[in-house]
Amino acid sequence: MSIQTVPLTLPPSADPSKFSNFGRQVIGIDPGNLKPSDFAEIQQLLYKYDALLFRNVNLSPEQQYELTKAFDPKAESYGHGDHKTQSTKKSILHPDLKTIPRVPQVQLIGNGTVHNHEGLETAALKHPSHTTFHKTSVSAADEAAGITRFYRWHIDAALYDLSPPKVTTLYAIQVPQGTEQTCRYDDGTGDTLPVPLGTTAFVSGKRMFDILPRELQSVAVRARVRYAPHPYVWMSPAAAHSTGLAIESEGKELPLGELPPWTEDKIKVYPVTWKNPVTGALHFQVHPCAAQELLIDPLPEGASREGALYPDGVHITDLKDVRDLLYKMQRPAIAPGLVYPHDWKEKDLVLFHNRGVLHTVVGAFKPDQVRAFHQCNLAASDEPVGPTPEDVRQYA
Ligand SMILES: [Fe+2]
Repeated sequence: MSIQTVPLTLPPSADPSKFSNFGRQVIGIDPGNLKPSDFAEIQQLLYKYDALLFRNVNLSPEQQYELTKAFDPKAESYGHGDHKTQSTKKSILHPDLKTIPRVPQVQLIGNGTVHNHEGLETAALKHPSHTTFHKTSVSAADEAAGITRFYRWHIDAALYDLSPPKVTTLYAIQVPQGTEQTCRYDDGTGDTLPVPLGTTAFVSGKRMFDILPRELQSVAVRARVRYAPHPYVWMSPAAAHSTGLAIESEGKELPLGELPPWTEDKIKVYPVTWKNPVTGALHFQVHPCAAQELLIDPLPEGASREGALYPDGVHITDLKDVRDLLYKMQRPAIAPGLVYPHDWKEKDLVLFHNRGVLHTVVGAFKPDQVRAFHQCNLAASDEPVGPTPEDVRQYA
């Protein structure tokens, strides 16, 4: 029997023509108790549509871990390493994650104080706010009027030593009701996006690649990103752009000598585009805040040099240049019409293809608005695959 799916309900802001291959709601199946044949189908659907929603789900932390692990049976530890985020106090991720003691691969995230939760007596949760990460903030008056921002567009990945998880599962246990907010880009474009309170916003990495002009697609298939060692510690003193899609280049990153010990062999250098294991499509997958250098290969033999950027290849080490080029390639894909802001209901389970989308926390809660989610992803047992030589020839 084939599993039944329906398209996700899109908000009026989304351009439906851009979402025909993105996101499906899965109907009539219990994701905590999948038969192997059902799982095989779910796995295909996930890589095909990049995000799957299940509603009215009951899911224990153990079941969530098992489901997440099924996508990568050899993976064991949490995406950032079990307990790593707690022990690395300087990391910007440290305050956002609380580990479920019984299942350390599952994190409790959210807002407000949660009591007697899965072995945690009291957990004080804080929804990440752009006010602690962006260089500028919306004014108090605007915030009171419901204006907010994307917090940080990212891939769930340590980007040092550990490999990027294939799948992230997000399970909504408690969702506070509240009025819609307006996400403001504040980048001079006038772009805004109406968002449900506390949405998680997604964009497709495939679309990010597909909408690039030809000369930037050529750069994307020839480029690799070198990530900073311990990137979340490295970027901790720095401040982000108002779209949450870059770090402002002000020289505030921690000097490499002041980071926790690191070695060259654990540095991650990844292709800019990652090949979808089911569809073969290329997804533009770069965590812009963590990127430190860009290495762009020369055009392949026989490719036209007309209009080509960096035809002879280049190694870009100036942080501002790295960020400016990435921003130019990534910003078009977060245009309001291309963003899917999920409207969370309690007992929603969302699975997303972490190697195929970028996502961000959005919005701001008051301290008494309690939100509790379980999040799980696992440092992968293999590395993302870049474009094939044929892909490079096609797009270069
Ligand atoms: Fe995330």
